[in-house]
Amino acid sequence: MAILPITTYPDSLLSKKTERVKNPKDPVIQELILDMFETMEKNNGVGLAAPQVGKSLRLCVIKLDGKSYVLINPVFKSKSWKKIIGEEGCLSLPGQYMQVKRSQKVKVRALDRKGREIIVQAQNLLARIFQHEIDHLNGTLIIEKIVKEKKSKK
Ligand code: NI
Repeated sequence: MAILPITTYPDSLLSKKTERVKNPKDPVIQELILDMFETMEKNNGVGLAAPQVGKSLRLCVIKLDGKSYVLINPVFKSKSWKKIIGEEGCLSLPGQYMQVKRSQKVKVRALDRKGREIIVQAQNLLARIFQHEIDHLNGTLIIEKIVKEKKSKK
């Protein structure tokens, strides 16, 4: 395993749409998954997407409350209308924290690390992390999603 260097804004890789993983069982992908977990944990992150370690692939890893998730080629099956504003950070934007509006609940279809199809439901913080990481796979960063403060009238 290895700790990988983190790609930071404004690297153009972070704004590129990623490519589907063709074979999750490929040893190169399996090693990347392990390296991404190690890199995320070393940096005290709760989620990490492949473009953040220089790979333009539809793959992200998440770890929250001791539970690990590997999402390969994820797609949203549903997103709740109800949205919540919360603070987010990003390892690619060190030291920056922003208010972002996200669906409270999501359902995601993906392949797990063994290439099996899974459907995962998440809410609140886990749903927020899923949305943040899948945004990365579409080349979207939180700086594009900041909740604008209402301007006060003078
Ligand atoms: Ni991020």
